[in-house]
Amino acid sequence: MYDFSSYYDRRRNGSSKWLKMNALNESPKADVIPMTTADMDFPTCPAIIQAIQDYVATEVLGYSNATDSYLQSVQNFFKEMHHYTVEKEWIITTPGIVPALSTSVQAFTDENDGIIVMSPVYTPFYDVIRMQNRRIEECALLLQNNRYEIDFDSLASLAEKPDVKMLMLCSPHNPGGRIWTEAELQKIIDIALTYDLLIVSDEIHADIILDGHTHRVLPTVDKRIEDQSIICTAASKTFNIAGLQCSNIFISNPILRQQFIDANLALGIERANVLGMVATEAAYNDCRDWLEEMKQVIETNQDLVTDFFESLSPKFKVMKQEASFLAWIDYEELAIDDQTFNDFLIHDCDFYINSGEMYGEASRYFFRINVGLPTEKLKENLDRFKIGMEQRFMTALSV
Ligand SMILES: Cc1ncc(COP(=O)(O)O)c(C=O)c1O
Repeated sequence: MYDFSSYYDRRRNGSSKWLKMNALNESPKADVIPMTTADMDFPTCPAIIQAIQDYVATEVLGYSNATDSYLQSVQNFFKEMHHYTVEKEWIITTPGIVPALSTSVQAFTDENDGIIVMSPVYTPFYDVIRMQNRRIEECALLLQNNRYEIDFDSLASLAEKPDVKMLMLCSPHNPGGRIWTEAELQKIIDIALTYDLLIVSDEIHADIILDGHTHRVLPTVDKRIEDQSIICTAASKTFNIAGLQCSNIFISNPILRQQFIDANLALGIERANVLGMVATEAAYNDCRDWLEEMKQVIETNQDLVTDFFESLSPKFKVMKQEASFLAWIDYEELAIDDQTFNDFLIHDCDFYINSGEMYGEASRYFFRINVGLPTEKLKENLDRFKIGMEQRFMTALSV
């Protein structure tokens, strides 16, 4: 049994999530864990701590490339967890997935080209496209029965445009929590093959699969897409080591791989953080039992959030999360102005979330909660929210 109930005040180590809380509210209530940025407030798996300690005790902390045993740990993990065979030479280590998304934009598109994203989506998808003067082509997800569905007609008509070169796919999807089914992925692949569209598939959330769902690494659905895709993976979300900045990008096509490496060189990116690789290797080799326990805590927390909002008011719609530790909640029916609601959450409830508009205009009346925190602390946050809502918005809550 691992420890999923201890937590630390992470302001002292500069945690982005905790400092953001203080930026929003000068004097937050003591002992509140914020639920914004997607890292978890659980102690690190002991095998990762041990591996880092052993490494720093005996090794020089110089420039280091991926070792053979590191690459093998990545291969084994993907073979065993996802039934996907990755060749060693396909694996490029980078200091994160967002850098790899950005490099892909640079390497495989030109200025003013179009890049498709399925909105709403993780904010850096927009940033890396817009800030490199490419055009965002939004394929808006359809909200049907409180679940996101892909608009394949829209996807095909965007893909058909001659200057649309890439689809940046979030699989599983953040913030909607959807695991795209084999049939959905096949349709995406068919469109990509028809219109010669490169797929950059961000699969960072692929290991935290809930309630018996199955995630498919893109090329396991159809091998033909392997040479026309960039698969972005990392141990960072799965094992809560995002601060160590290490990810693994799989590029089977040697021409695309060289273009990616060249673009990285132009940006001054040559390798990942050495301790990130040490931690990733330990995580992939020795922390799978930790992952299984962590997923149980996340399932408990996801259920808690769903039950809580549904019993507070049926006007809240909590999307069923099939993967990861984020919850996505629609409050549009409460008819509360979003600015008022966001201020209220911070100042009346000490309830720190990401507001929906960060992920796209259509989700202005959503908010995202990170449930990667001890269950008791999540309950405390929800209790404060309930008290605040009943004091201020009782009428809005009632049906
Ligand atoms: C879909 C997605 N991609 C990438 C990242 C971050 O990747 P990295 O920290 O490796 O740059 C996140 C973090 O929340 C994410 O949700």
